[in-house]
Amino acid sequence: MSEHDEPSSVDDGRIHDDDSAGRTSVGSANDTSNADLQAAGGHDDEAPAETGRHSAGTELATRFVDPGLPAHTYRRSDIDEKAAKRREREVATLFGLSTLGTLLFIVAYFAIKPQSSPGPDVLGDVSLSTKLLGLGMGLALFCVGAGAIHWAKTLMPDDEIAAVRKPMRSSDEDRAAAVAAMKEGAAGAGLGRRKLIRNSLLGAMAPMGLLAIIPLRDLGPLPGNSLNETAWSAGKRLMSDPAGRPIKASEVPIGGVIHVLPEGIEDLPNPLNEAAKATAIVIRLAPRDLRDQQPDRKGWDVSGIVCYSKVCTHVGCPVGLYEHETHHLLCPCHQSTFDVPRNCAVIFGPAARPLPQLKLTTDDEGYLVAAQDFDEPVGPSFWERG
Ligand code: FES
Repeated sequence: MSEHDEPSSVDDGRIHDDDSAGRTSVGSANDTSNADLQAAGGHDDEAPAETGRHSAGTELATRFVDPGLPAHTYRRSDIDEKAAKRREREVATLFGLSTLGTLLFIVAYFAIKPQSSPGPDVLGDVSLSTKLLGLGMGLALFCVGAGAIHWAKTLMPDDEIAAVRKPMRSSDEDRAAAVAAMKEGAAGAGLGRRKLIRNSLLGAMAPMGLLAIIPLRDLGPLPGNSLNETAWSAGKRLMSDPAGRPIKASEVPIGGVIHVLPEGIEDLPNPLNEAAKATAIVIRLAPRDLRDQQPDRKGWDVSGIVCYSKVCTHVGCPVGLYEHETHHLLCPCHQSTFDVPRNCAVIFGPAARPLPQLKLTTDDEGYLVAAQDFDEPVGPSFWERG
């Protein structure tokens, strides 16, 4: 009995014959497995264990009724040639857009310098090259994916097909033949005897990992000292972010919180990068709340006004949530919590060290200014951090 003969003898709604649509038969795994295993016959004869499993399967088939598959629903493109052509054009359009995206990426990569002038939009500080590379790659990947999904959902066959699972184990003869072939191959290669070939092969394979490692150098120049320095230096005014106004010490109320950047940061070569490192937060505490300051940090505040890096020492998220009552600064990414009265010591979360503090003073006009750069690198720990 063949697999396709089975449906006519079990025509109880479990099997749908779609010959009119040129389809193959559709059935459930239970139907075909029993029929085919019996038709094959060989496994039953080979081992008693197989026979036991088979009879258990037969018993299950008699105890449980196979609910079968629901009736097949045809898509419009299955029955209407015009609709199918329309879907085909849509898929081709998506693939065409993907090609355009790839071309855009290639042109942007070669034709536009990474530091070319930004446009007047909200992403103005991101270089034009970066935008076009992202746009091209995004368009290419999105459209090819969307086209493939659309193709699969509207035009590719959607029949449910049940197949008999084949035994995984090869026959004893095949297994023995494979082992013999491997031994013969090893003997023929003569790796044990031909030491020159073996050693030169090892010599060729050993450095091959470098092929993957050396191109990593193209990830960019080493950071040098740039991770240890920020745009802060002695005498630089604290400018409110984003208003960009200098801050008079007398204007900051107790409990006041101001996000700040160093004066003149927009004139630096890479202002976005510099701002990411130098961003800081100013908080004014009542003098009594500063009594737990470390002795060597006495005098780093101005009348209770303290300033800390806003770059989380865990993995660099902005620490911008200040809890007025407890004087805790919270990082929203993984909930690291820093205790401001105790020099932003970590009291909760995965951060490994306190937020770096910026020493403050005032200039002749009473504006808050930095007394020096941060005395340690800001942000997450890294391998060269001293
Ligand atoms: Fe701040 Fe993880 S980045 S807790």
